[in-house]
Amino acid sequence: MSGGTPTATDSRFVHHPVMVAEVVEHLSAVPSGVLLDATVGGGGHARALLNARPDLSLVGLDRDPSAVEAASGALAGRGATICRASFAELGDVLDSLGISQVVGSLFDFGVSSPQLDKPERGFSYRNEGPLDMRMDCRQRLSADEVVNNWSTDDVAKILRDYGDERYASRIAAAIAAARPIATTTALADVVRDAIPAPARRRGGHPAKRTFQAIRIAVNDELDQIEPALEAVIDRMGPRGRGVVLSYHSGEDRIVKQVLRRRAGLNDEARFRGLPQPANQAPPAIDLVPRGSRRPSPVEMADNPRASSARFRAFCRRGLDQMEGAV
Ligand SMILES: C[S@@+](CC[C@H](N)C(=O)[O-])C[C@H]1O[C@@H](n2cnc3c(N)ncnc32)[C@H](O)[C@@H]1O
Repeated sequence: MSGGTPTATDSRFVHHPVMVAEVVEHLSAVPSGVLLDATVGGGGHARALLNARPDLSLVGLDRDPSAVEAASGALAGRGATICRASFAELGDVLDSLGISQVVGSLFDFGVSSPQLDKPERGFSYRNEGPLDMRMDCRQRLSADEVVNNWSTDDVAKILRDYGDERYASRIAAAIAAARPIATTTALADVVRDAIPAPARRRGGHPAKRTFQAIRIAVNDELDQIEPALEAVIDRMGPRGRGVVLSYHSGEDRIVKQVLRRRAGLNDEARFRGLPQPANQAPPAIDLVPRGSRRPSPVEMADNPRASSARFRAFCRRGLDQMEGAV
């Protein structure tokens, strides 16, 4: 989603890849082999990566069939294999393609612009649509189930946990009182009315956090991150590289924890110079940089959807570095 010209060629799927220059700078230094784009979307990042390194092959995953169609079109003839799959299944997909090792990986979490902008997908609080929000239409759980059938306590909990919503209890009670709620805009009105008037004018659209929380719950977005990151690090060859782009604090917290752990930075014993437990795996990656990066002010101004992005990158240690790891 970076500013300027959208990079997907499919005019029905327009999505600006975020921090594309930073992603390409880091991942174009990988050895020869296979890149995994775990959230290929419209193929914007993937195309930029293959432009920089035409010698690489790429496997792209997405659980949204419209993204799979768009990426297949955008990457046709470029040595890419696009699969409809969740990144939770990345090990099985790579096995089925006979790929034991990858040289690079990209996770670009969150939703694509077409998912947000097409009212019929039910992600938008601005445009009327059904309460859907499923990235994969084969999923059983939809926003309608959460909004109209979940207990008030469960709704309040996801608003707090996934939306950082200060007025979670009030909103959850208002949703329960307004049932049945049929559309996205009806839900947005209920949320707006539940928030005290002065607070409605702060921090963007009053329903933004509620919609984010319901979307995360419907798509089970957070639980898949840790195992997928672990799996990709384990499949990465020496001197491979990875990038993760997160868009809210819940995602970034998980990413940070996993990457720091695999880099040996959460390890008390190591820091204190104490003996390591016998079963302690040596650090597998280095973080570059140690912390996160943000999009440039120009990119944020150009593409408001990039403004919450956090970029974290790592390099897989070489075998020599693994053995010498302290
Ligand atoms: C921000 S978009 C990616 C955009 C892409 N980097 C590009 O340049 O076009 C996020 C994509 O991740 C997909 N997605 C989200 N969770 C996923 C998961 N668990 N497994 C696979 N794809 C997922 C969404 O369907 C969406 O298409």
